[in-house]
Amino acid sequence: MTAIRNIVILTGAGISAESGLRTFRAEDGLWEDHRVEDVATPHAFRRDPELVQRFYDLRRENVLAAQPNPAHQALARLDREWPGELLIVTQNIDDLHERAGAQRVLHMHGEALSAWCTACDARHHWTGTLLDSPPCPACGAAALRPDIVWFGEMPYEMERIFAALARADLFVSIGTSGAVYPAAGFVQQAAGHGARTLELNLERSLGSSMFDETRLGPASEIVPAWVEEVLR
Ligand code: APR
Repeated sequence: MTAIRNIVILTGAGISAESGLRTFRAEDGLWEDHRVEDVATPHAFRRDPELVQRFYDLRRENVLAAQPNPAHQALARLDREWPGELLIVTQNIDDLHERAGAQRVLHMHGEALSAWCTACDARHHWTGTLLDSPPCPACGAAALRPDIVWFGEMPYEMERIFAALARADLFVSIGTSGAVYPAAGFVQQAAGHGARTLELNLERSLGSSMFDETRLGPASEIVPAWVEEVLR
């Protein structure tokens, strides 16, 4: 087996579930209470900006109230101690990876604690609300939207992700259902470049059959165990 030097880790809502942040497609998932078409598309924002802003204001509040769990802490340790290349590509909009201390993190679907001005294109660290149409700190326009990649929009930094997948010796997917592309296709890309692939999830995902290995269990247990193994 080739020595592992470059690692790409994809994380999804499941890694933050034990921090009290709801996933999307579970029985009590966010998409049970809200239709994607009402809160997570550019069209929805044009049609009913208040509904969308209220939805993300509440998610921002929940993110601020949440704490990293042992899975986030284990990946932060890996980030500190791994001598090779490492990139944590997260689909999550929470900042729990960073609050646990991880630095090599990329948010492909945006961030809850960021507001994007559609008038001047500036982005601002944001912990308050947007429902009340606050002015953009840079240009003053009341044109701030959540800095989130909605359905139908292009995820962030795809070139950087593809480049990392092309160099990866190991691709690990944690807490994601494999229901949403392009993230759900990363396993095939990594495998196509010769990487070993590992899934760590509570239950088998839609893409499980594409992984060399699948380990099932709560992220707070199976992620620290895997990191211990890799750093041994
Ligand atoms: N530990 C490990 N895995 C877990 C845990 C846990 N404690 N709890 C849930 N999971 C797993 C579930 O089994 C499921 O496979 O996490 C996955 C969560 O899946 P989704 O709710 O579909 O979330 P995710 O895959 O991140 O969604 C992808 O879809 O709605 C869009 O943009 C949104 O980024 C999101 C994308």
